[in-house]
Amino acid sequence: MVEEASVSAPFEVYRFDPSRDKSPRYDKFTLELPPHTPVLTALLKVRSEMDPSLTMRYSCRSAICGSCAMVINSKSRLACQTPIGPELARHGRIVIDPMRNQPILRDLVVETAPFWNRYRRLEPHLIPDPEHPMPEGRENPMTPEQVDRFHETPRCIACGACYSACPAVESDPSFPGPMALAKLYRFVVDPRDGGRRERLVKIQTDGLWLCLRCHLCTEACPKGVRPSERIRDLKEMAIAVQGGSEHGSRHAVGFKDNIRDAGQLNEMKLVRQTYNPLEMLGQLPQGLRIARKKPELLKKPHPIEGVEEVQKLYELLDKPPEGSP
Ligand code: SF4
Ligand code: SF4
Ligand code: FES
Repeated sequence: MVEEASVSAPFEVYRFDPSRDKSPRYDKFTLELPPHTPVLTALLKVRSEMDPSLTMRYSCRSAICGSCAMVINSKSRLACQTPIGPELARHGRIVIDPMRNQPILRDLVVETAPFWNRYRRLEPHLIPDPEHPMPEGRENPMTPEQVDRFHETPRCIACGACYSACPAVESDPSFPGPMALAKLYRFVVDPRDGGRRERLVKIQTDGLWLCLRCHLCTEACPKGVRPSERIRDLKEMAIAVQGGSEHGSRHAVGFKDNIRDAGQLNEMKLVRQTYNPLEMLGQLPQGLRIARKKPELLKKPHPIEGVEEVQKLYELLDKPPEGSP
C-alpha cells in the first residue's frame, strides 16, 4: 500500500475551562498528518503529545456512538468521520468549536441535558394500543412495507449535530429539535403504537410549526436521517388529523387553498386565514405598514390563466401522507 504524504495542518481549537478562564480563547496547533486523518485523530494527537488538558467526548471512532459531534469549520459534524484533507483544501485551516445551542462545560464538551430533555418530552417509546395488544411472550412482527415507512429514522445515532445546526432551537427554547421530531415521526408511523393520533394533536402546539424548513439539520446529519423531511411529513399528518388548528397549520392550509383557488397568493386573505379577528387587531400596525409600502396587496388577485391545470395537479397530489393514522 502506498503511504499518503503528510501535509501541514493548522488547527485553531476552542478552549474554555470555567473553573479557570474568564473568557474563551482559540489555541493554535500545527500537525504533520496524512490528508485522510480524521479530525478526531488529530485532536487526540494534540492531547497526547502537546496538551493533555484538551477536553472532548468520543468513544467508538467509527461514526457509531455519536459522541464526537463538534463544529468543524462552522459546520456541525462528527470529528471521527471528517478527514482533514478536504477541510484544509477548502479553508486552509481547521477551526474547531463545541456544538452550538448547548451550554459549554469545558473546551469541546457541552451539556447535553437540554437535547435529551426535549427528546424525552415527546415520549420516545411505544405506547400500548388497547385495540392491538402485544402478543404475550412473543414478538409483535411488522411487514417489510411497514418497516419501510420509518424511512431513515432508525439510523439516528443521537449525535446532536442536527440540534447544533438548527436555528429554530437557537431562537426558541420550546422547539423540540430535529432529532426529537424525527424520532416522533418514527413512532407515529409505527402500526403498533397506540398514541399516534394524540401525538400528532399534541405536537401541533408543542413546537412542530416552529420549524423554519431551512434543511440545515438534514445537511448536518452524518447518517442521512433527513429530519427536515420527516418534520414535513409530521406537519402533513397533523393537518390530516386535525386540520388547521393553530397559526402554523392554518397558515399552511390557507397557503395551499390560495394557490388552488387562484394559482397565486392572496396575502391579505392569508392573514385572515391565519389569525382570528382578535389576533388580527394585534397585527394591525404591521399590516398598515405593509399596506403603505405595497398597496397592490390590497387588491384581490384574479385567478391566473390556466388555473384549472393547477387544480388538476392538486387532485393528483392531494392524498393522505403515507403512514397517516
Ligand atoms: S429544517 Fe427545521 S428542524 Fe431542521 S434545522 Fe431548519 S428549523 Fe431546524
Ligand atoms: S438525526 Fe442525524 S444529526 Fe440528528 S442526532 Fe440523529 S444522527 Fe445525529
Ligand atoms: S467517536 Fe463515536 S461517533 Fe465519533
